[in-house]
Amino acid sequence: MSKPLPLDLPPLSVEDLLCTSALAADDIERLFATAARLKAERDVHTSVLRGKRLAMIFEKDSLRTRFTFDVGMQDLGGNAVYMDHRDARLGSRESVKDVARNLERWVDAIVARTYKHKALEELAQHADIPVINGLSDFVHPCQALADFFTLHEKWGAVRGRTLAFVGDGNNTCHSLIHTAVRLGTNIRVCSPEGYEPNARVVNEAMRAAAATGAEVTILNDPDAAVDGAHAVYTDVWASMGQEDEIEERNGVFAAYQVDTDLMARAEPGALFLHCLPAHRGWEVTQEVMDGPQSVVYDIAENRLHVQKAVLAHLIR
Ligand code: CP
Ligand code: NVA
Repeated sequence: MSKPLPLDLPPLSVEDLLCTSALAADDIERLFATAARLKAERDVHTSVLRGKRLAMIFEKDSLRTRFTFDVGMQDLGGNAVYMDHRDARLGSRESVKDVARNLERWVDAIVARTYKHKALEELAQHADIPVINGLSDFVHPCQALADFFTLHEKWGAVRGRTLAFVGDGNNTCHSLIHTAVRLGTNIRVCSPEGYEPNARVVNEAMRAAAATGAEVTILNDPDAAVDGAHAVYTDVWASMGQEDEIEERNGVFAAYQVDTDLMARAEPGALFLHCLPAHRGWEVTQEVMDGPQSVVYDIAENRLHVQKAVLAHLIR
């Protein structure tokens, strides 16, 4: 077997990954090409980030994001240092600016999971190293990149396909909208009244969609949203930080559960996606979650490959 070529890592049009709305379609395609190579040649590119360090600052729990960034750095020859920030919000002991100014002296990039998206923007403003969003109250860009990378793997091309998101118009939903329109995927979002995605996200997406021909549809009826869709996505009804609303939300969202009847309205063989963690019996039934159309663990695996690509492209 011939030796694989070294990775070609052209810079992206951004220095940080705060939101997929800042990425051009070319950036996403470059990341996907690198992720595909890193996945196929897993044990080959082990020194791309030799000697590089990643700071991981998490204000909220995480299994996938924490694990995949840590393992991803190790796979590429670097290492990661985790800082548990669950007891104090970023900026409470010292200013976000000072955190940024310190970290940039010790590490080569930062991944942060924050409550306030603003805290991430401030970190990026003051740190002269890449800042990567590991989830904020506004968006979850690494998740959407892994979701669309998985759809790309499954379908070959995502342009012209239709993804239906059923549930809360939350961080995950916002990043799916941002990413879908850039890649030419039609997106239908279906939420209970009052839980729709942010209007600014939707308006910006409609403008961006004009360039790719994607359609953005916001509605309240799950049947209409899923009708003929090629993939169906859901997420928790109450995100981290909304724990005191769980009971109320469980009532409001009851008609928005993804079950086999709802999946039957989609195209035959439509895929089921969930960012995880999932609550079987609430936003998704066990039959769908563990059924043959579910690709949830493929997505979880792809978080690793896609984030390795993000790290390899951004860290200099
Ligand atoms: N999907 C996701 O981001 O999972 P974690 O919260 O476990 O990181
Ligand atoms: N919307 C969820 C995603 C978790 C990965 C949350 O913010 O808790």
